[in-house]
Amino acid sequence: MTVPAAPTGRREGAGVFVTLEGGDGVGKTTQAALLEEWLTGLGRTVVRTREPGGTEVGVLVRDIVLHHRGDIAPRAEALLYAADRAHHIATVVRPALARDEVVIQDRYLDSSVAYQGEGRQLDAAEIRELSLWAAAGLLPDLTVLLDLDPRAARRRLDADDKPFDRLEAEREDFHVRVREHFLQIARDEPDRFLVLDAARPAEELAADIRARLEPLLATPRGAGSGVGTPD
Ligand code: TYD
Repeated sequence: MTVPAAPTGRREGAGVFVTLEGGDGVGKTTQAALLEEWLTGLGRTVVRTREPGGTEVGVLVRDIVLHHRGDIAPRAEALLYAADRAHHIATVVRPALARDEVVIQDRYLDSSVAYQGEGRQLDAAEIRELSLWAAAGLLPDLTVLLDLDPRAARRRLDADDKPFDRLEAEREDFHVRVREHFLQIARDEPDRFLVLDAARPAEELAADIRARLEPLLATPRGAGSGVGTPD
């Protein structure tokens, strides 16, 4: 499948938008922290954020999608993630990019495509469209996919000793499908993705991320970057 370009247009500012994706327990938070440290050392202003829950409204949505006791219809779940995204992108991410900052974001639209599209067996292309509509077409400059066997990830989560949320508590076959779909998305958009084996040491992964990001920091941004203008 070739992925159609997002609505084109010009994003304000010289900011850089990096997202981290992958299953639960693959080490996204560790990599976000290492990346922030490096970028700050280079003198860049960094905004570290996440979905769901990167805004006050988002914290409320996060509580519903992760902790509601009982079922949520799959389409309602997809819309809740999209609502969180719409508000977060409009009020946090776009303004930061317009100030020429670097946004490091834990999860974005690819999580919706993998978890709601494939995991909940909704239509992946529709979920992508929904997310792009919510975000008025904003695509990351770089998406790092930390890929790990769900069984290994589960062992890391078990060691954390935190109670599982609604998604983490899903069965192993759900997480296997989510992983496969993340890899498929990355194959469809090789220019945007860096896929890394998350079983490797954290410092090595961080070095690979830095190497891939470095040229993007230097390139002046402009039209045709696959980024839409908000309506
Ligand atoms: P995350 O914040 O990574 O969880 P934690 O704080 O436990 O590390 O993500 C919360 C869960 O939400 C995760 O299981 C993936 C899921 N999710 C979706 O299903 N769809 C989405 O669009 C997003 C952003 C997350």
